[in-house]
Amino acid sequence: MFKNHEVTLRAIAKDLKKVESQALVIGVGQGTDGPVLLDNPLPVKAANALAASLQVLGITGAADEVRRLPGVPEVGAQVLVLTGVGRLTGNQTSEEALRRAAGSAVRQLAGVESVAVALPTTTVGQAAAVAEGAALGAYTYSGLRTAEAAVKAKVGSVTIFTPAADDPALAPALKRAAIVAKAVNATRSLVNEPPSHLYPETFAEAAKDLAKGLPVKVTVLDEKRLERDGYGGILGVGQGSSRPPRMVKVEYAPTRAKVKLALVGKGITFDSGGISLKPAGSMMTMKCDMAGAAAVLNALLAVAELGLPVRLTAWLCLAENMPSATATRPSDVLTMFGGKTVEVLNTDAEGRLVMADGLAAASAELPDAILDVATLTGAQMVALGKRVSAVMGDDGVSAAVKAAADRAGELFWPMPLPEELRPTLDSPVADLANIGEKMGGMMTAAVFLNEFVGENKDGSKIPWAHLDIAGPAFNEGSAFGYTPKQATGVAVRTLVSYVEDVLVRTA
Ligand code: BES
Ligand code: MN
Ligand code: ZN
Repeated sequence: MFKNHEVTLRAIAKDLKKVESQALVIGVGQGTDGPVLLDNPLPVKAANALAASLQVLGITGAADEVRRLPGVPEVGAQVLVLTGVGRLTGNQTSEEALRRAAGSAVRQLAGVESVAVALPTTTVGQAAAVAEGAALGAYTYSGLRTAEAAVKAKVGSVTIFTPAADDPALAPALKRAAIVAKAVNATRSLVNEPPSHLYPETFAEAAKDLAKGLPVKVTVLDEKRLERDGYGGILGVGQGSSRPPRMVKVEYAPTRAKVKLALVGKGITFDSGGISLKPAGSMMTMKCDMAGAAAVLNALLAVAELGLPVRLTAWLCLAENMPSATATRPSDVLTMFGGKTVEVLNTDAEGRLVMADGLAAASAELPDAILDVATLTGAQMVALGKRVSAVMGDDGVSAAVKAAADRAGELFWPMPLPEELRPTLDSPVADLANIGEKMGGMMTAAVFLNEFVGENKDGSKIPWAHLDIAGPAFNEGSAFGYTPKQATGVAVRTLVSYVEDVLVRTA
């Protein structure tokens, strides 16, 4: 059911005749005086002729403009493909610009089996970015459509044409690109899966399936176990659904681990709002409300496959938020993992309830840091739009997440945890209420989560950051760059980069 997509990636340095791919991709930028053909390995005459005809061909070099032309002699590929990299005023050889240009081309070449990409790359980092973009762009979700024609076959193999192919560091970099792209694509597929098929129990099964063959332990806590251990947040959110909730604990614990990190993911397989029912229009994308759990699961699996020396535990907080006679009512009080009580004033603020349990349970194991990922608030989109995620929490961890995101090519922006928001969550009947100040509601939610991050033995707070990906997790618009419609797989790349960065700092 939850099929995974893998693309074969390889690199060659010279001899275009040896390009056995059906299509060869090269770049075009938007210069001040029109389109500019970027550095490419075509024979000089062919390159000059092509450069001179760009304008008449109507090619502008804009991002996401992908055009196919007949091949030229001395090139193995049958077809040339020009991919736009956008305005040449920015840095078009930045790793993210290359990732997007390669991704857009490969995405739009769905149906072609093999593609070679010859974008301008000199470093291993740039070549790996092209490979990663291509593998991300090769994603397709076939879903449950029965008409075969509706789904074009994805690109199956990508050859990167780069002078860096001779560098011994390229092979591991390509391997990393393939592993990371596989993790992002697996995240997309879980999120795209309809809630009729993906609910807490089947999500837990999928986690076990995806972990097969890796040195990873998957423990599924069912509703009886959740009851016994006091996971009141997950149980409270899940009790309105005919599909019972689950907590899935995924552990990667190599013997030579240097640090111990925890990830917590929001896994609401469908968010109807519960008794505080959402309007129909707001429910349409709510299968994406488990994107945080999918991201932390697949980031952990990527870290395990990369064999990084870190002890990593992911907590997937899985529940379906439905209205029914058994659902939590506004004004009910829940006792969360660890004993804190919460008055539920709005059942649609359910993410923070399941995450509270996850953060408290993760804290009990005293990790060196905790990152949580959640499609937590509509306010996230009001603050930062649909393509920029937010990071909040302790300054050091937030800054490290921002730096990791920058390196990975994902857009994250730090936001504060204003102290004055805490009293807005006060409740007359419980330790705190699940809603508070509406203005800046993304920060209010983060301030709520902060209450459930535990302490070290010496009384200091466990370093923590919260990633709100509500907007960027799901693309309701058209595909762009390497990003498809619907699920985007956001945060996986940032999490993997974060773990790598922590290891570099502790080395
Ligand atoms: N899952 C939603 C947040 C969301 C909205 C994610 C849109 C992605 C796109 C969350 O559970 C929610 O409903 N939050 C409420 C909180 C409010 C009741 C305080 C919201 O944002 O309206
Ligand atoms: Mn909700
Ligand atoms: Zn939600």
